This record gives sequence, C-alpha cells and structure tokens, in this order.
Amino acid sequence: ADALKIGIAGLGTVGASLARILQQRSNELAVSCGRAIRITAVSARDRNKDRGVDLSGITWFDDPVEMAEKGDIDVFVELVGGAEGTADNSVRAALKRGLHVITANKALLARHGVELAKLAEEKGLLLNYEAAVAGGIPVIKAVRESLTGNNFSRVYGIMNGTCNYILTRMEKEGLTFENCLKEAQRLGYAEADPTFDIEGNDTAHKLSILTTLVFGSQIAVDEIYLEGISNISIEDIHAARDLGFRIKLLGVAQRTETGIEQRVHPTMVPLDSVIAQVDGVTNAVALESDILGELLMVGPGAGGNATASAVLGDITDIAKSRPGAQQVPVLGRPAHLLEPYRQAQ
Ligand code: NDP
Ligand code: HSE
Repeated sequence: ADALKIGIAGLGTVGASLARILQQRSNELAVSCGRAIRITAVSARDRNKDRGVDLSGITWFDDPVEMAEKGDIDVFVELVGGAEGTADNSVRAALKRGLHVITANKALLARHGVELAKLAEEKGLLLNYEAAVAGGIPVIKAVRESLTGNNFSRVYGIMNGTCNYILTRMEKEGLTFENCLKEAQRLGYAEADPTFDIEGNDTAHKLSILTTLVFGSQIAVDEIYLEGISNISIEDIHAARDLGFRIKLLGVAQRTETGIEQRVHPTMVPLDSVIAQVDGVTNAVALESDILGELLMVGPGAGGNATASAVLGDITDIAKSRPGAQQVPVLGRPAHLLEPYRQAQ
C-alpha cells in the first residue's frame, strides 16, 4: 500500500515528540500497519527553532490553514492548541478538503466538537482525538469502542496532570504552589495559558467530552460547575491529611433522575482510596456502567511522549483502516443523533 502522508501542525511539546517518534520508529510502524507512515508537511510559527526533529525533505508551512488546504498529506494532525483561530480554522479546512483529522485539542472539541463531528461524518472522514482526554490513557477508545452497549451512570476522575502534579509536590515536598506550577510548565505539562489548568477549565473541557461520549448528549461545557485549585493552600492540604483525606481536583459527571450533573472542583478523597494514591502527572478515569461495572484507568496524563503515544495510536488506526469501512461515530453516536443536554435540577 502507499505510504500514509502526515501533516503535523504545531511542533511544540506534543508535535515535536510525535515527529521524533514517527521518524525513529518508522520501520516498526510500517510492519505493524502494513504501510509506511511518512511526515510530508509540518507547520509552526518559528521556522528557525531547533526542535530535535529532522525536517529535511518535509515541506514547511508558516500557516497551518495553508498546510490543510495545500499540503501533500492524507492526515492533518492539529497540535497547535486553542479553541478558536488557527486550530479551528485549520481543522475545518482539512475536513472540508476531505482529509482525516487528528487533534489533541480538548478546548477546541469542548467548543466546536459537535459541529466538527458532523462535518467529518458527512464526508465519511475520521476525526480522532485520543490525546485530548487524560493524555496517554486510551479512554476514548475504551468508551467509544470497547464499551459500546454499556449504559453508563457515572464518569469521574483526575483529568489534569498539571494540577495533580502541583497538589502532589505541595503535599509531599512542601513546595510552593508557584514553584510547582513553574516546574509543570518547564516539563511541558501545562497549557499555553496555565490558568486553564489551575482554574479547572481544562478538566471541564475533558469532562464535557467524556460526558457526551458516555451519556450521548450534546457537549455542554458551560453547564459545568467549576472551581480550580488556585486557592488551595499547603495548610488546606495538611488539614485534609490530618482528617484522613487527600485533596484532588476531580471532574465528575453523573446521571440523576432530573438530568445530567457535571462538576469540577477540589475534592477530599479518603487516603486509602485508589484515587488518593494517584500522584504527580498521572491521571485516573473511573467509569461506572451496567454491564461491566466499575473500570478505573490510571496512567500518564500529560507530557510530550505520553501525549504523542495517544496521537500515534490515532495515526496507526487510520493507517490500518480499510477504505470504505464503516467508521465509529466521532462522539460515540452520530453527531446528528446526540440528545439535547438536560441539566440536573
Ligand atoms: P506547545 O505550546 O508546546 O506547542 C504549540 C505549537 O503550535 C508550537 O510549535 C507553536 O509554534 C505552534 N503554533 C502556535 N500558534 C501557531 C500559529 N498561529 N501558526 C502556526 N503554528 C502555531 O503546545 P503543546 O504541544 O503542549 O500542546 C499542543 C496541543 O496538545 C494543545 O491543544 C494542548 O492542549 C494539547 N495537549 C497537550 C498536552 C501536553 O502534555 N502538553 C497533553 C494533551 C493535550 P512555535 O513552536 O514556532 O512557537
Ligand atoms: N495541561 C494538560 C494537563 C495537558 O496538565 O493535564 C494534558 O491534557
């Protein structure tokens, strides 16, 4: 089969890791997928920055939209970030052109996911986004594919690596909030604007996507009760521990008799619970459903390689897919069949 041609928009923490892995593992990937996977185009702002990636023979675009419209590519990988502007415009341009799209951008999906899913489904294209929720944990595939047929009652968990990293280091090493945040930024865990992490918006973005997947309703990110961790002090953390609890930033969505309840806030979890043991940048997503029961997925929630691993899985899924085969609906059920969101009273 012909090589699958990849265009990567954004060569920052995630994009550069992905490019390096695709280049270093090209032989193994070709064997696993039955065809080569080749980066043919890239886009970022600064053409002269050294990213530890060999860009020879790859076409450079200053503008991701132009790459989506004109690049010699089969798959457009959006790793720029942001709910509006370049990320949104380039993903739409790629879908309009008939390209499969992969994104790690939960902010974009939380705002425009239903519309983008409709665009992709109308054209029979894949819109894959495993990296957008809980970093490297394959939770989208689990919910969207492996657990089809289950009725879900609840999804909850630790979905922001930066916040969990900050809370863990404050408790275990007595470091200040500001120092922990700076370190999370240095390690590539935080969003370009870290207030999205610490004020809970990033967790809300991810939760809104999971809520849609498990309950089949329209994405409703603005209906989420939101409280971040910026007001948590070391004294709060110690007081919680003295009472037998640990403070974690949780996202929770559950079905109630009157509708769906979604909330994001710091939560006291018992010290002996599994979720209390989830430390550092690690994430945990718990799913409760009628056939399976409770499933807890724990793993790396942010960072270049962990996130690139999820994007790579999306790419290899496309490389292995057969032309004309029935495709999994982007948001678990066809976008035009998503139910109106009903907020719990
Ligand atoms: P970075 O800020 O490290 O990288 C962003 C990249 O996009 C940079 O290469 C930048 O170019 C490029 N870029 C930004 N604006 C433009 C523009 N207008 N035109 C062209 N290129 C542009 O972000 P991350 O890699 O951390 O994140 C990328 C996406 O992945 C985001 O949506 C994020 O939420 C998501 N994500 C990140 C995770 C992580 O752990 N970091 C985990 C899961 C998801 P330049 O380098 O030249 O400045
Ligand atoms: N800023 C995000 C986090 C990246 O810390 O979890 C992963 O989505």
